[in-house]
Amino acid sequence: MDVARLLTDRVRSIDASGIRRVFDLGAKLKNPINLSIGQPDFPVPERIKQAAIDAIAQDRNGYTPTQGIGPLRERIVAHLAEDVRWRCEGNGPGLLVTSGTSGALLLSFMALLDPGDEAIIADPYFVMYPHVVRMCGGTPVLCDTYPDFVLTAERVEPLLKPRTKLVLLNSPSNPSGTVATVGQCRDLLDLCRRKNVLLISDEIYDEFTYSESRTDRSSAGQPRCPSPARVAGAGDDMLLIRGFGKTYATTGWRMGYAAGPGVLIDEMAKLQQYTFVCPPSMAQWGSVAALDEDMSAEVASYEQRRDMVVRKLSSVTEVTRPGGAFYAFVQVPPHFSRTASEFVEKALELNVLIIPGSVFSSRDTHFRLSFATDMATLEQGLDVLALLMQS
Ligand SMILES: Cc1ncc(COP(=O)(O)O)c(C=O)c1O
Repeated sequence: MDVARLLTDRVRSIDASGIRRVFDLGAKLKNPINLSIGQPDFPVPERIKQAAIDAIAQDRNGYTPTQGIGPLRERIVAHLAEDVRWRCEGNGPGLLVTSGTSGALLLSFMALLDPGDEAIIADPYFVMYPHVVRMCGGTPVLCDTYPDFVLTAERVEPLLKPRTKLVLLNSPSNPSGTVATVGQCRDLLDLCRRKNVLLISDEIYDEFTYSESRTDRSSAGQPRCPSPARVAGAGDDMLLIRGFGKTYATTGWRMGYAAGPGVLIDEMAKLQQYTFVCPPSMAQWGSVAALDEDMSAEVASYEQRRDMVVRKLSSVTEVTRPGGAFYAFVQVPPHFSRTASEFVEKALELNVLIIPGSVFSSRDTHFRLSFATDMATLEQGLDVLALLMQS
């Protein structure tokens, strides 16, 4: 039987060859200096692990309400009240616990995009964004954000069309680590409000924001990553998406949440009911403990690694200093006179694994380097890359 003939245009339109090629090449290396990893390298805090283990042992293994278990919802509601001053539930914004941040993105795009509708995405972008937009029938519209990688209102405005449904902000950003300022967040939300377009803010890396970029404050006065969610009344006009995986090293647990206008959250919950059904039960119980965990030591350690990346590479090329996340998007110096993909292949020959910018962008001038690895490995890899750039 010719099953391939039965496949949809939807799957045919997705090209995963770029990133697969890098991982195939990496798999051939014996003991690579791996600077391509998109997840933290610290262990899951003990209390979180234990809470998930206890849930399994206490037979909490069945379906949960599609919206998420009560104790987790209450904890997230309290967290959002403290952090962004939202009063979720009641007459306030709605809340849905999702299967990963990806689950929230997928459900929101499914709820918002009809064929021909447009979604504005920064270039460079998180690799999944344009594919998920297309999977949901929409058209991704790339907004060039080189050289500083900030999705500003000025850059977005000329791209807004009658069919634009959403603008996707990702701060701190994957792949650049760029953090939008308070003013940039406010201006983008103002623009979206004026044009009746939904702003979606993917804040999966919000805890991984480094000292100088924590320029906003929670209601308790804690220095925080700027977010459009702190603009007055934002909960009625934007969708806030956050996750647990990157902050607590539970990427495999598939946990995230979305908060925003009730009409949208209700539709996303309906879609979740008929697809994911509910996020994994033991992961939900484990995540109740997560929001009480202090991750500042881990974040401080990543800040030191970020500083090392900037220190080692800025003498040989242009590095936009990452304000958050654990990536740097580094320009291959023009004198290298070849594409970034070719540079990445050269680095592979020297046993260093990085990802070409073309996986995240329409340009092939940069590479993504992850500093989610120990200082010694990072230093070794940076030295190889710096030498290669000087050659
Ligand atoms: C910007 C961004 N959004 C969403 C995700 C997906 O996160 P999750 O594992 O929670 O689905 C990632 C993962 O790398 C990411 O970098």
